[in-house]
Amino acid sequence: MTGTLYTIGMGPGDPELVTLKAARILAGVPVVAFFAKRGRVGHARSIAASLIGAGAAELRFEYPYTTEIGHDDPQYRVAMDCFYGKSAEAVAAALDGGDDVALLCEGDPFFYGSAMYLFDRLARAYRSETVPGVAGMSGCWSRAGLPMVHGDDVLSILPGTLDEADLVARLSGAHAAVIMKVGRNLEKIRRALELASLIDRAVYVERGTMSGERIVPLRDLVTPTAPYFSMILVPGRQGVR
Ligand SMILES: C[S@@+](CC[C@H](N)C(=O)[O-])C[C@H]1O[C@@H](n2cnc3c(N)ncnc32)[C@H](O)[C@@H]1O
Repeated sequence: MTGTLYTIGMGPGDPELVTLKAARILAGVPVVAFFAKRGRVGHARSIAASLIGAGAAELRFEYPYTTEIGHDDPQYRVAMDCFYGKSAEAVAAALDGGDDVALLCEGDPFFYGSAMYLFDRLARAYRSETVPGVAGMSGCWSRAGLPMVHGDDVLSILPGTLDEADLVARLSGAHAAVIMKVGRNLEKIRRALELASLIDRAVYVERGTMSGERIVPLRDLVTPTAPYFSMILVPGRQGVR
């Protein structure tokens, strides 16, 4: 019998925010799979460090690129498609051999999660179960002490990769917002928040729930770029509800 693919949300960074279900599965699976940037342990793998059972085999998939070429470069798309195809083949081989595989993912897998690249290629062909994780934004707003939405407030979740006009249009009139994928988009996001008159409510969170965490009003952030694990939160209604 073939194995089961478990796609597992590892939460925002603090290992105590991993679910009991994820921990139970990780303790028992014979194979753990995860993505990692070149030369790095892999963020989801580092969250799982104390939870993986002794003797589990590891499938570490190292991204061919991180920031070397643009994501809209055709060469990038071809290389990444090939990378995800080969990674899926390696997971399929373990499943075909009868082993269950836990595929790790930061935060929640179905929320901008990298694991979806393998899920899309494998979930129809194998038994599959997805374990939700605490999303990064949830960890960030909890650490920042920011109640975000209430009652009929609407929360807008935006990737910072959108172009400036699109960001301004979507932020204008927003009750509350989360802007993900800040990185090199920081200055553009800052301008968009200024134009949407939300800059004074915006809070920057870097490495929320992890070591090196930093939480500051966006106005106080002077750097022109931000690291990968950063987001901007604009809470909804202020004051006592
Ligand atoms: C590819 S998305 C993955 C989202 C993930 N699946 C989740 O549920 O949060 C990566 C983006 O999530 C955000 N992110 C995730 N965890 C974070 C954290 N602990 N602190 C700050 N930003 C985080 C950052 O904006 C980062 O660029």
